[in-house]
Amino acid sequence: MRTIFFVTLLGSLLVQAQDKQIKRVPIAQTSPASGKAMFGEYCAVCHGLEGTGDGPAAAALKDKPADLTALAAKNGGKFPEAHIYTTLRQVESPIHSSKRMPVWGSLFSSITTNPAETQMRINNLVSYVRSLQKSTVLASSHAAADEAAAGR
Ligand code: HEC
Repeated sequence: MRTIFFVTLLGSLLVQAQDKQIKRVPIAQTSPASGKAMFGEYCAVCHGLEGTGDGPAAAALKDKPADLTALAAKNGGKFPEAHIYTTLRQVESPIHSSKRMPVWGSLFSSITTNPAETQMRINNLVSYVRSLQKSTVLASSHAAADEAAAGR
């Protein structure tokens, strides 16, 4: 069975990093129609509910989870959609490690026999991650688009 890695917090919310254990749990079913629900179930443990990279598992990982609210800002104000699709479609990783990002393409395909459902999950997650982009960035790229449309 495919598994996804999760972290359990032992004791109070104020536990130290060394009290955290990475646990493998089977991937749960969620509605493929809700990017928000999938993000809460699959992504927030590492990236945080707001997507800023500070989920409860972050401290136990080898690499720091990316700040998903800064993807557009780091890409000159443009949301790197193709790159995010590629990231989420990945089907195998050369290094299997509980300390890295799970391989979502394989995990999503493992809970359905319908490839359209996997595609829908990925589409809706990409849209949700897009919606997390810092508002200042969206505002400035809208302003730039408006200027371009106005021919300025
Ligand atoms: C087990 C922890 C973990 C979980 C769960 C997780 N991620 Fe990640 N993610 C990481 C880490 C660590 C990185 C940075 C290193 C890397 O790219 O592997 C990362 C990187 C990314 C990137 C790449 C950003 C870039 O600049 O290239 C995206 C996009 C992303 N995650 C989206 C998601 C989404 C969407 C989910 C839920 C479906 C998710 N992640 C779940 C740990 C996680």
